[in-house]
Amino acid sequence: MDLEVRKKERGVDAERYGCVPFVSSPGFNPGWWDDPGLYGDGSICFEARLGGVEVARARLEETVDLSAYTTAPTLGDAVLQIEFFEVAEGRRGEGIGRELINRLVVMYPNRRLVALSQNAGADKFWGKLGWRRHEHPEEPDWHPLYVQPAQRFPG
Ligand SMILES: CC(C)(COP(=O)(O)OP(=O)(O)OC[C@H]1O[C@@H](n2cnc3c(N)ncnc32)[C@H](O)[C@@H]1OP(=O)(O)O)[C@@H](O)C(=O)NCCC(=O)NCCS
Repeated sequence: MDLEVRKKERGVDAERYGCVPFVSSPGFNPGWWDDPGLYGDGSICFEARLGGVEVARARLEETVDLSAYTTAPTLGDAVLQIEFFEVAEGRRGEGIGRELINRLVVMYPNRRLVALSQNAGADKFWGKLGWRRHEHPEEPDWHPLYVQPAQRFPG
């Protein structure tokens, strides 16, 4: 798949607070992408295009506290959280989500990606990618944590 993945840098003069890295688009959840929020030094956004059309977005965060998930491996500085991840409505089920994750894994060979799953469909997606699921031990209804399989790291 000829997916063009581009990192969206925050402009040097852009405010960390109130920065909206993506242009509002009907294919994407406005609650995730359109509200001005903190776009700090640890925030990394990617957009993915096919044939020049934006088909997916990802927002990663460097600062992650997963201590509540006691069954998860201790990842230390290797952890990198996928805070938001979305394939455009109408383009789902074409393998775009899997391809974008594969590309992120290649971009970050020394990191371990994790995601707090947002819904049952996402649970199935992360499961299909082979990511291991960890429940929140005290809040069974809270988002399960999915952890990318180890590449070089034990766990
Ligand atoms: C979840 C999401 C990112 C998946 O992206 P996608 O491009 O549709 O997924 P892919 O086509 O790459 O699917 C990869 C595999 O996961 C499976 N899968 C994906 N979504 C699924 C769903 N909702 N239910 C069941 N299986 C699903 C596919 O069948 C495929 O399995 P296969 O390899 O055996 O064929 C996309 O549906 C989405 O953006 N959903 C809304 C936002 C969201 O929930 N994001 C996740 C945040 S944690």
